[in-house]
Amino acid sequence: MRAVIVQRFGDPSGMEIIDVSHPTPEADQVVVETAAIGVGGVDAMIRRGTVADMLPVPAGLIPGSEVAGVVSEVGADVDVSWVGRRAWAFTGISGGYCAFATARVSDIAALPDELSFVDAVAVGGAGPVAHFALAHAHFGSADSVLVRGGSGSIGIATVELAARAGARIVAVTTSSQERGRRLGELGATHILDRTGAGDPHAPTHFDVIIDIVGGTAVPEFIDRLAPNGRMVIAGMVAGPVPADVGSRLLAGFQLSRSLATFSLDTIGNDAKDVVRRQQFDAVTRGALHAVVEDVLPLERAADAHRLMDAGQVFGRIVLAP
Ligand SMILES: NC(=O)c1ccc[n+]([C@@H]2O[C@H](COP(=O)([O-])OP(=O)(O)OC[C@H]3O[C@@H](n4cnc5c(N)ncnc54)[C@H](OP(=O)(O)O)[C@@H]3O)[C@@H](O)[C@H]2O)c1
Repeated sequence: MRAVIVQRFGDPSGMEIIDVSHPTPEADQVVVETAAIGVGGVDAMIRRGTVADMLPVPAGLIPGSEVAGVVSEVGADVDVSWVGRRAWAFTGISGGYCAFATARVSDIAALPDELSFVDAVAVGGAGPVAHFALAHAHFGSADSVLVRGGSGSIGIATVELAARAGARIVAVTTSSQERGRRLGELGATHILDRTGAGDPHAPTHFDVIIDIVGGTAVPEFIDRLAPNGRMVIAGMVAGPVPADVGSRLLAGFQLSRSLATFSLDTIGNDAKDVVRRQQFDAVTRGALHAVVEDVLPLERAADAHRLMDAGQVFGRIVLAP
């Protein structure tokens, strides 16, 4: 079968499309014939080789962690009624960019008939991250929210979920006015530049900050938390957070502010499954948007990564085998 591999870490030219043997499912696994493959920020970080300390992977890996398609085979311990069903699947930190992907049966979800495979991979991973990151921040509808890094699929879902829950202030950081306009259509009330400036009507401080960007500016955004404010770091697209970040919290001791990280890995499969299914249904009703920048053939995986590296992806870019 066809698969994309990262032959050499660094720029996207180190990716190649090759033929590999058809996978055989382990006892608790399914094989999905992929129809849509999500290209995520993590895939780009792994390909660049910049997160080798955190996520050590060998050259030659097949990148990608979420796919949608039809279950074609199941392992010995899996209910055979899965065969032929449309499903979304999490493949782990690798294994997605190929014609037939394997996933544990506990990491797949059946798709509603009305939901396209492409829309499934735009929401299946990002939507639950947004939902549980907001919950981790103890978000309530009376809170003001800032989403730092609103233009990616996690940020977009966070904006929509916060707005739909009734938050009256949902600010975002973004690099362009056009992206800000689109985020406004999805529920953002205040559009800030990447430094957090640019809207004189925006509040100076927020009850909740969901940060997908990370990087050296995190301490400055800690200073944008209101008393009792909660900041949750759910991504680090701009790189690691300074090691002495705790000193900024301690400097504001009397403000009772909190900083936390959030990873979906800490959420049980059943809870993730319930939320994912609700969100898939919400997309079919138009209550949640699957925002897709483009769908490219699998052969153009390197081009998809070039678009990611150039910051030209709003929402999700998707590969189709
Ligand atoms: N917590 C979890 O369980 C979980 C699960 C999966 C992935 N992740 C993490 O989530 C991140 C990817 O999420 P995503 O796909 O939604 O994000 P993304 O699309 O890769 O990036 C989000 C947005 O951040 C802005 N941005 C990019 N570089 C920036 C920089 N240097 N400074 C400031 N803003 C910058 C860009 O928007 P503008 O150009 O509009 O500013 C970009 O669209 C990765 O860090 C990944 O590890 C976390």
